[in-house]
Order: sequence, then C-alpha cells, then structure tokens
Amino acid sequence: MKPKDVKYPFSFEMRKPHLSDQILFIPTFYKGHEEFELPSWSEIFQNQNSIFTEFCSGNGEWIFEKAKKYPDRNFIAVEKQFTRVRKIASKRNNAGVKNLFIVCGDALTFCKYYVQDNCFDETYVNFPDPWPKDRHAKHRLIKPDFIDQLCRVLIDGGKSLFVTDHSDYATQMISTMEKAPSFISKPYENASYGTSYFDRLWRSLGKDIHFIYYQNQKLS
Ligand SMILES: C[S@@+](CC[C@H](N)C(=O)[O-])C[C@H]1O[C@@H](n2cnc3c(N)ncnc32)[C@H](O)[C@@H]1O
Repeated sequence: MKPKDVKYPFSFEMRKPHLSDQILFIPTFYKGHEEFELPSWSEIFQNQNSIFTEFCSGNGEWIFEKAKKYPDRNFIAVEKQFTRVRKIASKRNNAGVKNLFIVCGDALTFCKYYVQDNCFDETYVNFPDPWPKDRHAKHRLIKPDFIDQLCRVLIDGGKSLFVTDHSDYATQMISTMEKAPSFISKPYENASYGTSYFDRLWRSLGKDIHFIYYQNQKLS
C-alpha cells in the first residue's frame, strides 16, 4: 500500500472520533471527546504487553524501528498531521507490524480524553516543534498541563524521555519537569536510542542533542 491509500475518515462538518485499521482519528475543534469509548489497550493490541508511546512522531521512523525490534512490546505513535500519519500507517501495514497503534491527533487531547490512568510504561517526545520565537513559545507541547497528563497516564516507575536540539526548549523542559513533584531526573544511556529524520538532520548540522529523562514516582 501507498500512503495515499490511507483515507481521512470524515469531513470537517461530520467530524467525530473514528477508529479503523488500528488508527484513532481525533478531530480538532470538537467538544464530544468524552463520549467516545475507546476499547481497552488489551483489546486493541490483543495482549497485555507493556505500552511505549511516542508523541510528535513525524513520519514515524523512530517508533516503527522500535516496534519491529521489540515485538513483545506495544507502541503508540501520536502525530497530528494526517500526511505524516499515513506514511506511518503504510510503513506499518506493508511490514506487517502488529504492535504499532497510530493516533492522528493532538498529543494533549489524546492523553486527556482517551487514555486512562497508569497505562503507559514509557513515553517519548523526540524533537518536538521548538517554536523558537518568544511570541510563539506558548505553542510548545512541553508545558505543565501536558506534564500533568504524563504523570497520570504513566505507571508508577514509568519513564519519560524528551529529546531536542533546541537548548532554550531543553531548559524549559527541565524547569517544567523540576516543578512536577513526582518526576525524578535520571541519567540517560543513549547508546540504543535509535534515530529519526530530525535526529539525523540536526546531527549533520553539528547541533548538540539534549536527552532529558525522568522517572515517575507517584506520590501516594
Ligand atoms: C520536528 S517534527 C519531529 C518528528 C519526529 N519525532 C522526528 O524526530 O523526526 C515534530 C512533529 O510533531 C508534530 N506535532 C507538533 N505538535 C503536536 C501535537 N500537539 N500533537 C501531535 N503531534 C504534534 C508535528 O506535526 C511534527 O510532525
């Protein structure tokens, strides 16, 4: 199959959450998220394996490689741009990879309305859009409301990795995480990190890559 064989399931006027072919489509400018009942993750994946979720997956190279490498783990790719989601879906379907679920939608909306407490073993945000201009920084994903959701959806002891080439955003990520009481900073051993389109791009331009790693130690 080709990426263009994946069709967007609704028009803007008829928008509502839609699940087909292991892709959850979450509409924008929509108020009825809470009415949608997503099947449990064990029904979706047909097993009880641990779940590893990447937000801002782009064309999905990083998570697709992880899903192939670790067939005994479940993976979720969350990406808001449909043109990128369909590239992930065609790669996944052509390779017959069964342990990769895709979400076409906003990361915060997905966490907030579609994910129950204590579901994910690890979460990753690889090279999120840095929104480098000061007046645009409000659009950055890594903010207290998103971190609160990560705390909720991660299991106790679950880990969260943020990777960026952008030093100002890295500083903001650390300061946001340091204010989240349940997250404890951990050293990150990046030998088995993998790579992505933006990872290679920024390394080829000689940029430093920041790995920011935390463990969720839930407060009782
Ligand atoms: C710089 S690209 C990085 C892609 C990939 N992680 C990589 O390393 O090559 C950032 C991606 O995040 C997606 N994105 C930005 N904000 C998002 C959000 N709130 N929810 C889901 N995806 C988002 C963008 O559409 C884009 O594909």
